[in-house]
Amino acid sequence: MADLTTEFLGITSPNPFWLASAPPTDKEYNVRRAFEAGWGGVVWKTLGAEGPPVVNVNGPRYGAIWGADRRLLGLNNIELITDRPLDVNLAEMTRVKKDYPDRALIASIMVPCEEAAWKAILPRVAETNADGIELNFGCPHGMAERGMGSAVGQVPEYIQMVTEWCKQYYDRPVIVKLTPNITDIRHPARAAHAGNADAVSLINTINSITSVNLDAMAPEPMIGGKGTHGGYCGPAVKPIAMNMVAEISRDPQTAGLPISAIGGITTWRDAAEFIALGAGNVQVCTAAMTYGFKVVEEMISGLSDWMDEKGYASIEEFRGMATPNVTDWQYLDLNYVAKARISQDDCIKCGRCFAACEDTSHQAIAMSADRTFTVKDDECVACNLCVNVCPIEGCITMEEVPVGQVDERTGRVVSGDYSNWTVHPNNPSAAAAQ
Ligand SMILES: Cc1cc2nc3c(=O)[nH]c(=O)nc-3n(C[C@H](O)[C@H](O)[C@H](O)COP(=O)(O)O)c2cc1C
Repeated sequence: MADLTTEFLGITSPNPFWLASAPPTDKEYNVRRAFEAGWGGVVWKTLGAEGPPVVNVNGPRYGAIWGADRRLLGLNNIELITDRPLDVNLAEMTRVKKDYPDRALIASIMVPCEEAAWKAILPRVAETNADGIELNFGCPHGMAERGMGSAVGQVPEYIQMVTEWCKQYYDRPVIVKLTPNITDIRHPARAAHAGNADAVSLINTINSITSVNLDAMAPEPMIGGKGTHGGYCGPAVKPIAMNMVAEISRDPQTAGLPISAIGGITTWRDAAEFIALGAGNVQVCTAAMTYGFKVVEEMISGLSDWMDEKGYASIEEFRGMATPNVTDWQYLDLNYVAKARISQDDCIKCGRCFAACEDTSHQAIAMSADRTFTVKDDECVACNLCVNVCPIEGCITMEEVPVGQVDERTGRVVSGDYSNWTVHPNNPSAAAAQ
């Protein structure tokens, strides 16, 4: 059986599934139950400095986007860091770590961007025996307005500076949690690396307004007639998170920097995809908040079964395998040719593929009088729109066909007799490969 044990920064956990810093990890009661359910580790809900209490709103703090079946696709929140006293959290963390020595327990921290503030909290966190710390440079609301969270994560110089302080005053692994609310994720990752971070974790939540109440004319969640942007997470953000993880993973300037991947992870497959892109483990928040702690059982068994099927004995055996196949557009092979294929056995004759292709794409699907849909190979550019709009999974597929010649009239590479095919003129990589 596949071994799911992970060694992330020397921290061993029985599986790669950690709970991200958020309400599921806000207190001892939750974390004990999470560990009993099987989670490999937790990042405790972000701790703040001693001082005036953190006060959350007392109205709705979540907004959401749903699919047609009311499945939660995106969650938006305006919650702050923990509003429980620091000493209570630290005492609870100490007890939990003592009782679950085989699980990872990471302290998430967000204090003002002053050396004294970090110097004061780090020894107290160290006393809990937590396995490491995660620097919350990501929360986009509430704390950012106070010069913390994403306000730090958006300035690479601050990231480096604070990371250096943490490496100076704390002797266990330091993970830097990045905000996605930035143009090029490689810059903050490089800054963390320059500050000697042991790893980066990403993504935190994305600035968002999920809905506007058209009676009150205010964004939701609405607190007394006003709303504010929140942080977006859940399945909807996974593609953004995967791109960012891939960008860091393949950046030569951060080569080898361990990554803890976060963002929309709901199933074992999501986790496997992030690991294939180089992540050493994954963190989950929305899926646990939606389905409860037991969702990890499916993640563990699914990943383990898939690894057995593929013959991977450990996570490390497939970690990063997809990274070399992430490339820049100009290196895509323009001589590769595919065509849409419609399975007549599966087709329910709804005509969505026809409408989409005829009205908005390449007029490459023919409809007969009895509503039989067929692909016109000469027109099909394999854009994949028909596959994506078809309501029947697997009914329309893309089939690779032999590379052909450049059609001088359209500039397209067409399939056909390729005994004397020419390399597409826009494709230096394919030309080089000749
Ligand atoms: C209600 C809520 C509160 C959160 N609080 C924190 C926090 O205190 N510290 C932090 O680093 N991230 C916080 N996050 C962000 C999550 O840790 C995580 O980065 C994000 O939700 C993306 O993961 P997901 O798509 O699995 O939810 C919070 C997220 C939610 C939904």
